[in-house]
Amino acid sequence: MNTKINIAIDGYSATGKSSTAKRVAKKLGYLYVDSGAMYRAVTFYLLENGVDIHDVAKVVEALPKIIIDFRYDHAEQRMHTFLNGEDVEDDIRQLHVSQWVSEVSAISEVRKVMVQQQQALGKNKGVVMDGRDIGTVVFPEAELKFFMTANYDIRTVRRKKELLEKGKEASEREILENLKKRDHIDSTREDSPLTKAADAIEIDTSNITLEDQVNLIYDYAMRKTNSI
Ligand code: DC
Repeated sequence: MNTKINIAIDGYSATGKSSTAKRVAKKLGYLYVDSGAMYRAVTFYLLENGVDIHDVAKVVEALPKIIIDFRYDHAEQRMHTFLNGEDVEDDIRQLHVSQWVSEVSAISEVRKVMVQQQQALGKNKGVVMDGRDIGTVVFPEAELKFFMTANYDIRTVRRKKELLEKGKEASEREILENLKKRDHIDSTREDSPLTKAADAIEIDTSNITLEDQVNLIYDYAMRKTNSI
């Protein structure tokens, strides 16, 4: 395989986007970028530094002070998100951050800066990026686009397990409320709402295994790269 492509994976939260994207990237030898982690890192910075997220001018003023990068942890074999040189991978997954991240990511000025950084990461191709607007805004020309969905029961169970694995507890009710609230804000915001790109392939992950999801996308990627 010599031609590299970009793969966009969008969809609702806790539908298995990141787990799938991460594994597909590894299998293909591509770079995996978790765009949600970038919005989470911005949110974490604002909360930690007492910036009022409803004060857009203050948020914009803070943006140049926020430097995000990803570094691979060889021991854990996973990517960690760094904020101003500090590992915040676990901090950004807290429910507290999840509760504010949709509000922060609805701010156009925040999106503009994040999208520029995401596009720079994908300019040489060979990237699997997951998020909400990757196939529609970040990489509208991506060679492959997927849109993942799953029912609320499954999504709640998955998110609870993910939090527990990180030593964090939350009730199913709290998680479900957060998922519904974020779905609503993410899909109804004015700037780049979550929508399925016309040319995206929809995958309902409610009843398929992670391995099947990975293989499905990997097979599409192989067919695509072999045809160009
Ligand atoms: O994928 P995630 O749940 O970690 O994303 C956290 C939030 O970030 C999500 O509720 C909406 C926002 N987001 C976004 O607006 N655009 C993206 N490309 C990725 C995430």
